[in-house]
Amino acid sequence: MAKPTSDLPASDLMEKITNLAKRRGFVFQSAEIYGGFRSAYDFGPTGVLMLRNVKQAWWRNMVQLRDDIVGLDASILAPPAVWKASGHLESFSDPLVDCKACGLRHREDDLPDLNTCPACGKSGELTDAREFNLMFKTHAGPVAEEGAAVYLRPETAQGMFVNFALVMGAARKKPPFGIAQIGKSFRNEITPGNFIFRTREFEQMEMEYFVPPSQSSQWHSYWCEERLSWYQDLGIPSDLIRLRAHEADELSHYSSQTSDVEFLYPWGWGELEGIANRGDYDLTAHSQHSGHKLEYFDQASGDRYVPHVIEPAAGATRAMLAFLLAAYDEEDVRGETRTVLRLNPHLAPFQAAILPLSRKEALAHCSQEIAKTLRPYLMIDYDETQSIGRRYRRQDELGTPFCVTIDFETLEDKCVTIRERDTMDQQRVPIDTLLENLRNQLAI
Ligand code: GAP
Repeated sequence: MAKPTSDLPASDLMEKITNLAKRRGFVFQSAEIYGGFRSAYDFGPTGVLMLRNVKQAWWRNMVQLRDDIVGLDASILAPPAVWKASGHLESFSDPLVDCKACGLRHREDDLPDLNTCPACGKSGELTDAREFNLMFKTHAGPVAEEGAAVYLRPETAQGMFVNFALVMGAARKKPPFGIAQIGKSFRNEITPGNFIFRTREFEQMEMEYFVPPSQSSQWHSYWCEERLSWYQDLGIPSDLIRLRAHEADELSHYSSQTSDVEFLYPWGWGELEGIANRGDYDLTAHSQHSGHKLEYFDQASGDRYVPHVIEPAAGATRAMLAFLLAAYDEEDVRGETRTVLRLNPHLAPFQAAILPLSRKEALAHCSQEIAKTLRPYLMIDYDETQSIGRRYRRQDELGTPFCVTIDFETLEDKCVTIRERDTMDQQRVPIDTLLENLRNQLAI
């Protein structure tokens, strides 16, 4: 597949992506009929397919293709004891200032000028910063009292630490080994924005890799390279992605060493994924608070130690945005602009679209039969409305790698036309070999 060539101005690109996302059913503003709920988004019929593909690509890479990583699906709700031990109750906060003139709230570290409100422009009206905890708190059961308090997880990671001993025993693993999890996380972000880049409800793909303490630095380097390659292999060109090591004052409360995989968003370089060396911070904290030993004992050597943790922590929804941005392209085709998402076929919502040239019974029947044969193996769209040109354009905007056209000749010669998305090249192939042909080209 060709690399994206789009060189649109940055602000245009973001607007085009959000418009396309809505028009083609990728992403909708949540509760739009009620005016929209800022900071939450719904994934439409094509978006849900793409998001699942992003998560599946990660799971395949992290769990299916390796024998040193196992999966977990831990609960979203957790009692305060977990967040007290993890340090989130005390330290998971952002510094917040209020503008006394317009009443708006800002993150102090987002302010270009500490004295001026970026919303109303007034000087000297900002309050001193207060720490604002980002966790969503609620109550389990019918009584809203402090003893029933629970929190929605702000990261999936703690599920892996709390279950460390159970997973290690059940899966019969020893360091170095990892626990991977995909799931929703929630943060009461002060400044959500940039579409699905920063939302209050989002999905994470995290893996905690437990290693002998002396090996933590080498595994950190290993995971930085692995994770960078994963994005590149799925089509993000190398000039849009980089690794950046954190300065000491940027590190989270649990990290001794973090590198971000950064993406060049339309507004500049920003975080796509963080790869942290969490040391023994979490296992030690949960051991102390719970009274349960969270360590590894090697019976052969008699060694006993608390493993150190390397954590590649990615956002599934944020990764989807990066893949969409990198894939967006416009090109001139015979005087008309063609918009195309040059998505990796593994990420595209549909792998192929079946397009009968006419709605006549005989063609429709043949086309439905072809779709039925392909569906167990590939995600197929079926479209018989509008002109064939418009249907091609629609599939280009969805990023569908192949369109299969069924025409009247098909009924005679039992062949169909495959049109490839990026080159628009067409090829006539027998129906009998269609599935094999598509699977070979898609490498699926
Ligand atoms: N367990 C470590 C951790 O959660 P993080 O850097 O805060 O680290 C990891 O989050 C990733 O989760 C980020 O790189 C980003 O992709 C995603 N993420 C974090 N906050 C997000 C938000 N408010 N909206 C969307 N994605 C978010």
